[in-house]
Amino acid sequence: MAVFLGIDIGTSGTKTLAMRDDGVILASATVEYPLYSPKPGWSEQQPADWWDASVKSVRKVMKAAKLKAADVGGIGLSGQMHGSVFLDKAGKVIRPALLWNDQRTVAECAEIERLAGGRKRLIKMVANPALTGFTAPKILWLRNNEKKNFDRTVQVLLPKDYVRYEMTGEFATEVSDASGTLLLDVVKRKWSSNLLSKLDLDSSLLPKVYESEDVTGGLTAAAAKAMGLNAGTPVVGGGGDQAASAIGNGIVRRGVVSATMGTSGVVFAHSDEVQVDPEGRLHTFCHAVRGKWHVMGCVLSAGGSLQWFRNQLCQDEIAQAKRKKIDPYELITRQAAEAPVGSEGLFFLPYLTGERTPYADPNARGSWVGLSLRHGKGHLARAVMEGATYAMRDSLEIARGMDIPVKEVRLSGGGARSEFWRQMQADIYGQQVVTINAEEGPAYGVALLAAAGTGAYRDVVQACKATISVVTRTKPGSRERKAYNAAYPIYQQLYQSLKSDFADIQALL
Ligand code: XUL
Repeated sequence: MAVFLGIDIGTSGTKTLAMRDDGVILASATVEYPLYSPKPGWSEQQPADWWDASVKSVRKVMKAAKLKAADVGGIGLSGQMHGSVFLDKAGKVIRPALLWNDQRTVAECAEIERLAGGRKRLIKMVANPALTGFTAPKILWLRNNEKKNFDRTVQVLLPKDYVRYEMTGEFATEVSDASGTLLLDVVKRKWSSNLLSKLDLDSSLLPKVYESEDVTGGLTAAAAKAMGLNAGTPVVGGGGDQAASAIGNGIVRRGVVSATMGTSGVVFAHSDEVQVDPEGRLHTFCHAVRGKWHVMGCVLSAGGSLQWFRNQLCQDEIAQAKRKKIDPYELITRQAAEAPVGSEGLFFLPYLTGERTPYADPNARGSWVGLSLRHGKGHLARAVMEGATYAMRDSLEIARGMDIPVKEVRLSGGGARSEFWRQMQADIYGQQVVTINAEEGPAYGVALLAAAGTGAYRDVVQACKATISVVTRTKPGSRERKAYNAAYPIYQQLYQSLKSDFADIQALL
């Protein structure tokens, strides 16, 4: 029985897992590394740390699962999207990589829109507007601010593709991650020569683009030795972390949508053809399923809002939970459940780190609105959870408005673990929600891609069918659904009412 490795180069660490070809996980291991913020709004990491963590986590997993090198039939790579690794002609890293959450490129986003001939033309070329986190503005930033480094750059790689280069010696990427560079013609699934020429960037800077299941090369002798694997072990394209996580959730056909409530919240829908939100609120990227696409909305502080609430206002609950050896979220959720649906007129806007979907507004702020003497801590907690869930509904509503069917919503992340939050999500989305047997996220998705790409399955759709199944189903309550439907337009209106105040507040700082 062959075993496949999935390696996910995350922001806080690299997670590797070993999966048997029937989908059973044998072992997993995570190795962490630091994130550097040398100036406000800057976010960087050292690519050497990613490679080191990949080697260490592979070795840990091989040991824990008692595997031999010959057992490994293939490897899949996933990682944080949009980051940029700049390499010189000797293949050496020129400077630390700029990450997906780096905000230094506001001027370059405006420059890209201008050079492209306006926002509409840009969306027509690459299906998305310029956002500060994306890769293309980072390349322009290097050209505008570190000209010497730019002149030495011969190759720009995404985080997981730098690890691929260390593993295989190949400059390669795949369609799902390449979509988040803003340089891919998402319709044709190849680099946009049109936009590259408007930005005066040479296409030789970018790696070869594969479909996510395709084998992009084999382990070099040196990489095999470092990892304790066999030279020539095939490495498939893999996927950006969101597409890879969607594969791990079985989001591989029309109508099945995922809602992942982690620190950020992501709503992800498969689509059989390219569907673009003309306002550019949802991202339209290639999917890691051959010849398919997806749309995706990203709420920057979804579960992160409840985490903030816990850290700032729940010291008692944290201490009590420690004594009882339970998770403090259990106590917080219990209090939230005592408040009624709609938190008796209390709303929470979860824009603690600004917002990406649907407003792309870095000035937006978190707020409770509607406080009265009646409100206690349970109401505050419930309103935070309701606000984060309304924010996810915003993305679902945009998808519905684009005629993307939403027949089943698959929940994952912290928001899927609590029965209370699962019910709230069903009630607010107005839709049955389900959870599935796999909880391992992107690393599992790319292990499935490796299995499919090396012949263990016909394709990744078949791999998902064989390994992923629904374990819980939660239906919306009709009274609760009605109450939330009445409150949701007020939630939406609150951002519009406060938008200019948020900008004024920012101007004060
Ligand atoms: C996706 C995104 C994040 C990063 C880091 O657009 O910005 O999910 O990939 O996880």
